[in-house]
Amino acid sequence: MDRANSHQDMNDKKPYAPSADRNREVILAALTDELTDTDHVFEFGSGTGQHLCHFAANRTSNTWQPSDLAVRIPGINLWIADSGCLNILPPIELDLNSELPISAHATVCYSANTLHIVSWPLVDRLFLHAATLLPAGGKLCLYGPCKFDGKYTSEGNRAFDQQLRNENPDSGIREFNDLQALATRHRFSHKSTLDMPANNQFFVWERIGT
Ligand SMILES: C[S@@+](CC[C@H](N)C(=O)[O-])C[C@H]1O[C@@H](n2cnc3c(N)ncnc32)[C@H](O)[C@@H]1O
Repeated sequence: MDRANSHQDMNDKKPYAPSADRNREVILAALTDELTDTDHVFEFGSGTGQHLCHFAANRTSNTWQPSDLAVRIPGINLWIADSGCLNILPPIELDLNSELPISAHATVCYSANTLHIVSWPLVDRLFLHAATLLPAGGKLCLYGPCKFDGKYTSEGNRAFDQQLRNENPDSGIREFNDLQALATRHRFSHKSTLDMPANNQFFVWERIGT
């Protein structure tokens, strides 16, 4: 197989999420505002790996650590191989319910669209893992839809929440006050909430020193 065909073959097998292409630029802009040139970013629930490869290609001074369930790792590896980025570490197999591997470290933690998929106890675990990974001043950046004081930010999000709960009663759009309570318990202080396109938010919490 020649080089061009081998590249085509890889592209055919790569998992692809159209939504990740639609929102990657706005998330990159929000993340960029939070990053210094030396940050080491740990991602929970990397999905296809599309986001992380795009961010790594545009933020070459940062190192990027993908992680997700075992079933996602081969797809993420295809994206990494195709990206040619040298600043992406091999993906870590991580179920949020499990312990962090000893090799894991970070100065910034990031996740997109995971809080409404995983159960509430696993949302708690995500904050716990971020608190374990991050030094004082380290940032936890989370992107996705949210409710505020019990209110949806759009009718579309209300319908999306119902759909999520029909598919899995443990899933669902989270309430900001509940997230904030978790954040406080895990010693994070709220830094900012940015309204994003398509009725999503980008939240930043900062790890408080002990
Ligand atoms: C909606 S996808 C989001 C993927 C990607 N971050 C994005 O925005 O395109 C939710 C992700 O959560 C991951 N996930 C589900 N359960 C998980 C668990 N128990 N531990 C870690 N990740 C989990 C899925 O594998 C999937 O990649």
